[in-house]
Amino acid sequence: MRRSKISVIGAGNVGATCAHWAAAKELGDIVLFDIVEDMPQGKALDLAEAGPVEGFDGILTGTNDYKDTKGSDVVVITSGMPRKPGMTREDLFEANKQIITQVVSACVEQSPDAYIIMVTNPLDTMTYLAKHISGLPKHRVMGQAGVLDASRFRTFVSMELDVSVEDVQALVMGGHGDTMVPLPRYCTVSGIPLQELMAEERIQALIDRTRDGGAEIVKLLKSGSAYYAPAASVIQMVEAIVKDKKRILPCSAYLEGEYGLEGIYFGVPCKLGKDGVEKVIELSLNEQEQELVKVSAKAVGKSISSLNL
Ligand code: NAI
Ligand code: 2OP
Repeated sequence: MRRSKISVIGAGNVGATCAHWAAAKELGDIVLFDIVEDMPQGKALDLAEAGPVEGFDGILTGTNDYKDTKGSDVVVITSGMPRKPGMTREDLFEANKQIITQVVSACVEQSPDAYIIMVTNPLDTMTYLAKHISGLPKHRVMGQAGVLDASRFRTFVSMELDVSVEDVQALVMGGHGDTMVPLPRYCTVSGIPLQELMAEERIQALIDRTRDGGAEIVKLLKSGSAYYAPAASVIQMVEAIVKDKKRILPCSAYLEGEYGLEGIYFGVPCKLGKDGVEKVIELSLNEQEQELVKVSAKAVGKSISSLNL
């Protein structure tokens, strides 16, 4: 039986950590690509040498040659600049637009049937760009943001209530930026609505912390942005696809009328399986939630328009 082939473009903090989680979970053979000479080869070999200790099999290849990514089932794109303290994700727009344009064409040339999971920021805009450049159908191109944002919300809820993270479920919609829309009405602890367990003002404080979750880590790291939780989130999406798990996960997906939005990538709950984004789930939102979604969609739409495609 053929193992899945997963290529990770950009062997920096997020990319290398994606390779780590994917290898440890034995999701397939992994190719780690970067433009920096020898670095992806070094990281792939180092990771392969962890296999005997951790007990995982699979071929790990580090490369500077796109040909090694040929025939990938899933391509994860993390190449590009990360934020530094004081920067927003939008500040990365120009530099990453150039990088993503070049990277996506090179990847699709080698793997025309791949699923592309975008990670590079500004996320929803770079995912839109990836769809445009690749010419792939919408179910094959998606962005990772909501799994991470929801995971941050889940973490903060579990810390506040002193309960296991395993019992906390949450949903964050919207653009991966300051306008993201955590939805406390859809947050539960072992099925118990969050509102029954926490005062409204504490919920709002955790929502604010979730919105600033990326910046909180950037401020602490000083020289880059988060990577453990982002990479774990990406690999949950990869796993859903290569194992056809039909998971319901928030992803940046291309919308054609869902939530009243047209022609943008936006964070929404999706069913992820062997056909990529198999379905966008449309939730009923109250007036306040609809307003927040509208504000977020406007911000994402503005960023996408400035691609001038
Ligand atoms: P990093 O700086 O550690 O790694 C980026 C890598 O991309 C570097 O190794 C660099 O050599 C490589 N690269 C640059 N140009 C390239 C090209 N043309 N082809 C191939 N590789 C190229 O940065 P990090 O922390 O891994 O972040 C990567 C991106 O992911 C950033 O844009 C960051 O903002 C974004 N990010 C997105 C998240 C999300 O939830 N969507 C979460 C965390 C990071
Ligand atoms: C984050 O949310 C940088 O987008 C990245 O940590």
